[in-house]
Amino acid sequence: MVSEELLEKLNDQMNFEFFSSHAYLALAAYCASESWEGFSNWFVRQAEEEQAHGMKIFNFINDLGKRATISGMESPKNDTHSVLEAFESAYAHEQEVTRRIYALSDIALNEREHATYQFLKWFIDEQVEEESTVDSIVQRLRRIGNDGNALFILDAELGKRGAAPAAQ
Ligand SMILES: [Fe+2]
Repeated sequence: MVSEELLEKLNDQMNFEFFSSHAYLALAAYCASESWEGFSNWFVRQAEEEQAHGMKIFNFINDLGKRATISGMESPKNDTHSVLEAFESAYAHEQEVTRRIYALSDIALNEREHATYQFLKWFIDEQVEEESTVDSIVQRLRRIGNDGNALFILDAELGKRGAAPAAQ
């Protein structure tokens, strides 16, 4: 049986995933405005993935026989000034998501809510991948520095990121 507190925190996480989608769209908008089509594509795909994460929790709350509450959201960061800064904020954002998923998992474990913990396990694994992917892009961008040619190559590479398979 999921407690009110756990349900509320699950709901918060659902809304935070939707906010994440917004935050990534804002980063996509910056990259598109600078004609970095590949980087912009990567952030749009990431935004789609975050929307799917939110829906995963939305569906889980439904499966619990509870009702999700969709909240309003604050504006994401819209004042990015470089591709490196965009990916650095993405990395900081993913670290924050991980922190929140861990806090949520702690509550589920304390309540011995095994079904919810099992559900959250997917997100725990996902965060390892998310942080590693974004961190690696940040490292490459730092190495690239002001090398325009190398930046064009990375932009082309990230432009190949396709849509993720639909979340179950
Ligand atoms: Fe997510």
